[in-house]
Amino acid sequence: MTMDLHEQARQILRQNDRGGYTLPTHGLYPYQWNWDSAFAAWGFATFDLPRAWDEIDTLLASQWDDGMVPHIIFHDPDPGYFPGPDVWSAGGDPATSGISQPPVAATLVRLIYEMNPDASRDRLAAVYPKLVEWHRWWHEVRCVHGPAAIVHPWESGRDNCPDWDIGMANVDGSKVGDYTRRDTGHVDPSMRPKKSEYDRYLAMVQFGKSVGWDQKRIVSEGPFLMADPGITFILLRAHHDLAVLGHALDQDTDEIEGWETTLRAALPMIWNDDLQGYDAKDLRTGKFARFLGSGAFLAYLANAARPELDTQLMRVWNAVPYGIPSADPEAPIFDARRYWRGPTWPVVNSLLAIGFRDMGRADLEVRLRRETAELIMKNGFSEYFDPTDATPCGGANFTWTAAIWLTWAGQDYEQAKGAA
Ligand code: GLC
Repeated sequence: MTMDLHEQARQILRQNDRGGYTLPTHGLYPYQWNWDSAFAAWGFATFDLPRAWDEIDTLLASQWDDGMVPHIIFHDPDPGYFPGPDVWSAGGDPATSGISQPPVAATLVRLIYEMNPDASRDRLAAVYPKLVEWHRWWHEVRCVHGPAAIVHPWESGRDNCPDWDIGMANVDGSKVGDYTRRDTGHVDPSMRPKKSEYDRYLAMVQFGKSVGWDQKRIVSEGPFLMADPGITFILLRAHHDLAVLGHALDQDTDEIEGWETTLRAALPMIWNDDLQGYDAKDLRTGKFARFLGSGAFLAYLANAARPELDTQLMRVWNAVPYGIPSADPEAPIFDARRYWRGPTWPVVNSLLAIGFRDMGRADLEVRLRRETAELIMKNGFSEYFDPTDATPCGGANFTWTAAIWLTWAGQDYEQAKGAA
């Protein structure tokens, strides 16, 4: 049983491998996604280190001249996906989308490198300058207001979470014209965003296109700009890991350490005392989202937790049996199966677990690992799960869930097998 799960996980990675890049899942997501790819690389590293580095190379090969690493790379056009390269019109060869995604790459590259530094040093040296460029882009383009900002909910990776509702409310989606969605043909529409939300998502894409994807203009004039606690903490941690990698390569890391210090100094801007937690903020209006979700808890990853946040974490986590939910189960808006509005994601759990472990909270790490493993053992390698009853949701045979099993969630089961 246990051995089967490890073998199944490796098979999923191989089956979703398109030669140098990995699909998140067949059908629903037929291209290369930014943070999915970093997780895929981490998974590959457990059994094929060169293939892991290939994944990172392919991702960074599509870096824009301004340093941005795009959220989707459209390697092989697939009519089953919307919005595709023609809708984005962001250029590139292969074509890409025009926004970025959570910069987990440096953190996962560090983990991959540390698995075998001797075998990895040259590969690391090749990607390091590109990672530095990408982090500089975050600092100069997306962190101009202090915390990391997103210009589209999809940039957060937590696409549809309630954090973005107040910013979305100011986006006019009424003029986007007709279009046919593809996502609802692959999975149950009740788990996916609603049409009113999709109209607004497209309006933001159309704005980006109208300014030729000038990222600074999108930040200053675009219809949506929100501070994202999730990306802020991921980036803060990634700056730190990038500096560690720089040291390993005997590079001067002062600039990176400066970005880390500046970003940490901006954290009070996203602390909401009324909520007793970190909170997303609409940077156009200055208003907080007033919503506690998994983005706030990523503070643990960046060593930015506070006692009040511990209380909130335990309240939210103890309200469900399986993993840390993406949205507060006691909030009226909580929806256990709808995209990022309640379900639990094994990948987010793995990032939280890295944070718990590093801050000496082995008890929390062990609990989260056990609950995440139970989800996968009961119901397979789904994209995400209902945290109240473990129902598998979204796409099946998902790359990042398989990767998380191999790198983290399946660890005890692998050891048990070894001992048997
Ligand atoms: C969805 C998720 C996003 C992920 C993508 C591919 O858009 O919200 O985080 O990268 O699917 O798995």
